[in-house]
Amino acid sequence: METIIGNDVEQAAKFLRYGALVAIPTETVYGLAGNALHEATVLNIFHVKERPVFDPLIVHVKGIDDIHRYAKSIPADAEVLMQKFWPGPLTILLQKQQLIPDLVTSGLNTVALRMPAHPLTLALLNELDFPLAAPSANPFGYISPTTAQHVYDQLQGKLPYILDGGPCSVGVESTILGFENDQPVVYRIGGLPVSEIEKLIGPVSVQPNASSNPRAPGMLKSHYAPSKPLYFEKEENLALMNLSGNGALICFENFKTDLPFRQFPLSRDGNSSEAARNLFATLRELDKSDFDFICAIPFPDHGLCKAINDRLVRASSRGE
Ligand code: TXA
Ligand code: MG
Repeated sequence: METIIGNDVEQAAKFLRYGALVAIPTETVYGLAGNALHEATVLNIFHVKERPVFDPLIVHVKGIDDIHRYAKSIPADAEVLMQKFWPGPLTILLQKQQLIPDLVTSGLNTVALRMPAHPLTLALLNELDFPLAAPSANPFGYISPTTAQHVYDQLQGKLPYILDGGPCSVGVESTILGFENDQPVVYRIGGLPVSEIEKLIGPVSVQPNASSNPRAPGMLKSHYAPSKPLYFEKEENLALMNLSGNGALICFENFKTDLPFRQFPLSRDGNSSEAARNLFATLRELDKSDFDFICAIPFPDHGLCKAINDRLVRASSRGE
C-alpha cells in the first residue's frame, strides 16, 4: 500500500469513512486513527500497531456535546474539567455506553475520551459522523511520533494517509484522569500538569502505575523505548557506571559536568514546555545516530518536566 503524506482533510475523511486508517496530528503526539464504532477497523489499529488487545484505546471526539453518546454517569468534576481544558491534552475515563465496542476498551466498562486541540483534526472530526479511536502512531513500545515524517518512517506501507499538521506543540501524550468512587485519579502524567487540574477541582491522587486495567502498557514501566540502551540516572550515578563508548546525554539545559558525553539540552532557556516538545524527536534522532548509548539525567520537578521524567523512566533500560 502506498502511504501519502498530505494536509487534505476531505481526503483523510474519505479514507476513514470506508474503514481505512489515517494518522492524525494532535497537539500531543500523532495518532493512528480509525472509526471507533467499527470493530473491524479497531482490530486493524491493534494489528498495524502490533499492540496487544488488552491495552485499550482513546476515543477522540469533536466536542463536549458529543460525549453523551459514548459515556454516561458523568461526574461533576469531569464536566468542569472538560469545560476548562477541552480541546486539550486531557483524557477522561468515563462509564461507557454500549455504542462503544468492547474491543476499544479492552472489555473495561470505562471509555477514555479526549477532544484534541489541533485545527486539522478538529476539522476532520467535524466531517465525520463517528469518533476516532487512536493510539499514538508508533509500533507498540517504541517512541511516540511528533511529526508526520516520524509516522512515515515506521508505519509506511501500513496505512494509506498521514494527515500532516506539522510538529506537535505539546510533545508528550495527554494526561489521563479517571474516577474511583467519584474521586479523581490521574493514571498517566502528561501534557496537562496535575497542578493545573488541582487548581480547578482540588487535590487529586496520582497513581501512574495503577489503572483499572493494570496491564495497560502506557502505564507500565517499560515503554516509549529507543532501541539503544538508555540510562536514566543522576549525574553522580552515571559517573560511577563506567560506561564505555560514545554516549549522548539528554538534559534540561546546558550544564557544567565532567561526564564525557555530548550534551543534548531539550531547552536552551529552561522552559519545560519547550523541553517536552523536543523530547521524543531528540530520542529518535539519537536512536538513529552513531552514539553507542543514550543517557539522561532527571529533570527539575516542575511543569511538563514531570511528564518528561515519567517517560524517561519508562524508556530507560532499567524499566525492562
Ligand atoms: O495524547 C494522547 O493521549 C495520544 C493522542 C494520539 O491522543 N494518544 C495516546 O494513546 O497516547 P495510547 O494508546 O498510546 O495511550 C493510551 C493510554 C494507554 O496506556 C491505555 O492503557 C490507556 O490510555 N487507556 C485507554 N482506555 C483506558 C481505560 N478505559 N481505562 C484505563 N486506561 C485506558
Ligand atoms: Mg502510546
